[in-house]
Amino acid sequence: MVGIYMSGTGNTKHCIEKLLSVISPESEAVPIESEKAAKKISENDTVILAYPTQFSNAPYMVRDFIRKNGAVWQGRRVMCMATMGAFSGDGAGCSARVLKQYGADIIGGLHVRMPDAVCDNKMLKKPLEENKRIVREADKKLEEVGRQIVEKGIYPQDGLSFAARLAGLFGQRLWFYGKTTDYSKKLKISDSCVGCGLCQKNCPMGNIRITNGKAVAGDRCAMCYRCISHCPEQSITLLGKQVYEQCRYERYK
Ligand SMILES: Cc1cc2nc3c(=O)[nH]c(=O)nc-3n(C[C@H](O)[C@H](O)[C@H](O)COP(=O)(O)O)c2cc1C
Repeated sequence: MVGIYMSGTGNTKHCIEKLLSVISPESEAVPIESEKAAKKISENDTVILAYPTQFSNAPYMVRDFIRKNGAVWQGRRVMCMATMGAFSGDGAGCSARVLKQYGADIIGGLHVRMPDAVCDNKMLKKPLEENKRIVREADKKLEEVGRQIVEKGIYPQDGLSFAARLAGLFGQRLWFYGKTTDYSKKLKISDSCVGCGLCQKNCPMGNIRITNGKAVAGDRCAMCYRCISHCPEQSITLLGKQVYEQCRYERYK
């Protein structure tokens, strides 16, 4: 078994590592941007593919990865795991449907609620204690799911039903569909940038470079919020105009 994950602010990384620690402690969790990700899939019969829900969809980066590495999925047993701030409907189902087109055998779907990574929208900001409680609940769910898999061989089926698909589609995806049809060009970097390079180092897409002592964003943003949550000057925004609180899993454990 291998875990492949996309994670901006560390939520999904934590969730997949936690689940693997229960069901298969010797298995590795590999970031999707790693050069060895596709090879690891081809070396394992079972894969857990994990990512944050974006606008009730699987991130474009994940769907792009699945398609670009289309040949490795044939016959693989795959469980899709989606983390989310509130609601996704069929967050796990969104990648499961693409994977099926490439011959994957979908064995499960898992939804885990975690703190919201969108930190430049005041409405999504929650008190620290609440985010800590959400993480504790997530850990409990992951332990329980892990036990069911180990002891009974039962995989959860979150987000895989037709009803879940309708909930995801009408709940959000339909209205926000345009936001996840490609990489984004909307990353904004303000004049307060000091050119420290942390964003460049952290970006999983190689989408930011430092030019003349300032960060400059390209048009391949995966909307993961990793640069935004790491910037020491809070100079980077995406969906909003101002950072209210940088979200990072480490703050909530
Ligand atoms: C661009 C974007 C869109 C999001 N859309 C949703 C959504 O539709 N529903 C939801 O419940 N959470 C949504 N979230 C919250 C994330 O799915 C959630 O915080 C996730 O756990 C972040 O995981 P990560 O830290 O591994 O990237 C969104 C986050 C981002 C950055």
